[in-house]
Amino acid sequence: MTLDLGRFPRVDLGGFPTPLQPAPRLGEAIGVPNLLLKRDDVHPLGQGGNKLRKLEFLLGAALADGADTVVTFGALQTNHGRQTAAACAKLGLRCELVLTAKVPRDGDAYERSGNVLLDHIFGANVHFCADGEETGRTYDRLLAEAAAEGRKVATFPVGGSNAVGALGYVAATAELAGQLAERGITRARIVAPHASGGTVAGLALGTGLLDESLALDVACVSHPAEEALESMSQLVAETAKLMDVGVPSLDHVHVDDRTMGEAYGIPREDTWAALRLFGRTEGVVLDPVYSGKAGAALVDWAAHGRFAEDEPVVFLHTGGSPGLYGYAPEFPG
Ligand SMILES: Cc1ncc(COP(=O)(O)O)c(C=O)c1O
Repeated sequence: MTLDLGRFPRVDLGGFPTPLQPAPRLGEAIGVPNLLLKRDDVHPLGQGGNKLRKLEFLLGAALADGADTVVTFGALQTNHGRQTAAACAKLGLRCELVLTAKVPRDGDAYERSGNVLLDHIFGANVHFCADGEETGRTYDRLLAEAAAEGRKVATFPVGGSNAVGALGYVAATAELAGQLAERGITRARIVAPHASGGTVAGLALGTGLLDESLALDVACVSHPAEEALESMSQLVAETAKLMDVGVPSLDHVHVDDRTMGEAYGIPREDTWAALRLFGRTEGVVLDPVYSGKAGAALVDWAAHGRFAEDEPVVFLHTGGSPGLYGYAPEFPG
């Protein structure tokens, strides 16, 4: 079937389609000769990343609803917050970022560099909160202030991961399938990370609905595999409902947390090894929170024979490189 999303409000943030590039030196190093990188990190707006696809639909709905203010949430070094700030700047919307200390990291690099610096450059109002309670109070205050000033607020969840946001990755699946078809590829395996889940939910639904034979391998970066599978499945169902289509089987989706490590935001040696490997073979920058852990999963799966010989494998690069600078002091070299 074709994926028709034309009836959903959407803003054009430019920059799509993102490139699909062969990665022969990386592929040779890990024994995946037919390796491609889908470069969602490459986009002209706000230093790119996976949230821009979700934001096209989230902001489309917000504007259709007459919103002039966006409030969203995340960890201190949230890429979602930074991309929301950039998109709001482009559209002339007020952006309130309510950021919570979720990762045991502090110091100048983590607290002021990377995404935090860019949030300020894009003109967002940044509210740092110590815990969930302060986050809730801050949100209530922002809503009250907006109401008093006659502003209309659109609230986006952490990571932009609701059914509207997931539409962005349903659209991405169609884009990718088209690019693969241009290369004569009709069967492939996609590798992508899971955190708040909207990215893989959109991909799982898109690949489940398309006739093409695309499998999805999900690398957990913040939740154990069982939890990730459950929340992804729920979001797939909600997104299918929004699209008014049946929920496809998810037999083509495999979820694995082997390279997640101790917790969200804490890189491991194999995360840094993946950063070095991508950097030294392809000149591609990963980040130590998301794409680095997905990169480590790619390497691990290749080493354990997960991919058939000559099977085309597409690594979805979801971006996040600004967050790397927050971790500069702990780069092991
Ligand atoms: C760079 C990067 N990659 C991957 C993800 C995970 O995407 P999702 O939250 O849709 O699971 C995020 C989200 O925070 C991200 O910033």
